[in-house]
Amino acid sequence: MIPERQYRTPLFDALVSLAESRKISFHTPGHKSGKGISTRFRKFVGPKIFTIDLTTLDEVDCLQRPVGVIKEAQELAAEAYGADHSFFLINGTTVGNHAMILSTASPGDEILVARNAHKSILTGVILSGATPRFFPPVFDEGLGILLNVTGEQARDAMERHPNAKLLALTSPNYYGVAADLRAIVSEAKRRGILVLVDEAHGPHFHFHRSLPPSALDAGADICVQSTHKILGGMTQSSMLHLKGPDIEYPRVVRLLHLLQSTSPSYILMASLDLARMQMATEGEKLLGKAVDLAKDARDRVNRIPGLFCFGEAHLPEGAFTLDVTKLTICVKELGLSGFEASAILNAEFGIQVEMADLFNILVIVSIGDRKDDLDRLVGALHNLAGRAARPTNQRSIVSAKPPMGHRFHLPPRDAFFAPSEHLPLAKAEGRISSDIVTIYPPGIPVLVPGEEVGASTIHYLLSLASHGARIDGVLELDEPRIRVLCD
Ligand SMILES: Cc1ncc(COP(=O)(O)O)c(C=O)c1O
Repeated sequence: MIPERQYRTPLFDALVSLAESRKISFHTPGHKSGKGISTRFRKFVGPKIFTIDLTTLDEVDCLQRPVGVIKEAQELAAEAYGADHSFFLINGTTVGNHAMILSTASPGDEILVARNAHKSILTGVILSGATPRFFPPVFDEGLGILLNVTGEQARDAMERHPNAKLLALTSPNYYGVAADLRAIVSEAKRRGILVLVDEAHGPHFHFHRSLPPSALDAGADICVQSTHKILGGMTQSSMLHLKGPDIEYPRVVRLLHLLQSTSPSYILMASLDLARMQMATEGEKLLGKAVDLAKDARDRVNRIPGLFCFGEAHLPEGAFTLDVTKLTICVKELGLSGFEASAILNAEFGIQVEMADLFNILVIVSIGDRKDDLDRLVGALHNLAGRAARPTNQRSIVSAKPPMGHRFHLPPRDAFFAPSEHLPLAKAEGRISSDIVTIYPPGIPVLVPGEEVGASTIHYLLSLASHGARIDGVLELDEPRIRVLCD
């Protein structure tokens, strides 16, 4: 039974009502409801959007100290997501991850971090001054991707670091592989460890039973979700949710004050208000359609010779669950890298995928997709697979496995701020990184400040770059250079 109030959209309604009142504005933003905006911009998007691009005013409340419609919109979000408190974020899950780490960890605290974390978790760690204790996720050799952490790996990490205060997980991962959060949370609770979940790719989980359980439903203390990645939020709009007594609510509020803009976009916040209403009132139906479309597409892709789109049955039994709306399509049997397949789909078929890696392309199916879109994708994949197989150029890479188990010399924050210099990546062996280096996407740190740069890391980064991956965290001059501590 959907509570009647979930149909309400207090923030959006207040914006529309203020826009329609046609009051004279002598305040920011300077375009004054679009009157001063560039004509080309207005012609393309239409005039209305600018009339709700407002600033903090009594009628539309204040994100930094909500007492009116933003407070109400956040309370409705908390109710819809089963949280005690929800916060609107206007700098994506990135700012949410920073707030999540900073509101639970203090300088010097030991924290457990699954090494499939996005770089924003690591930047939160740098800001906090905490000492991360990394533990590895499972790597799938066949697919060449990191899956997630198992209950056993998490338990082992908790055992080895009894002083750790909190456990930071990323679930689901980019490919939709979710950790067994229920088991991990119950183990962590038994030991008095807080559980933080970067749930950037799971804002829809709570609203459909055939998706993995959401972090909060699994008992996590705090989580952050990119509403914009999967649901109807505009780009950069995310939410942070708290549940239970173990997180200091005032500290989260304080941190968000510190980190978020004092000029939050009302368009982004309104999109969160509407996306919540949409999920609370018709999420099951909308997501059901996306799930069905994705299941059908997965079956059809798996009938194409040379392609493989894994389902839950492929995953180690009982260890993980899968968000079936993510289609990871392995193209390696075609003799193509994922990067090449992605480029062909884009250039020849006008199809843009979310991400490519060495062996795969990643397709997100969402509430915005229609059967025609998936038919087109499947048709293009048929075409791709039907071409004569080319000799693979992936042989120069021994494994797509990112190097793990680096030697740590000093905490990330100390390394980040220590005197450092740029060195060609190829010559950095044995030096200590002072930056986060990732392959982006997915943005999982290959190097963290304070870690020794190993030969295998250099080989991994350069090989992937030679196949078309983008290395993030290097200076691209004549050759990629990374920042390392001065000797
Ligand atoms: C797992 C994960 N966490 C956090 C982020 C950052 O999210 P946002 O882009 O909303 O800032 C990303 C972005 O891709 C991500 O994949």
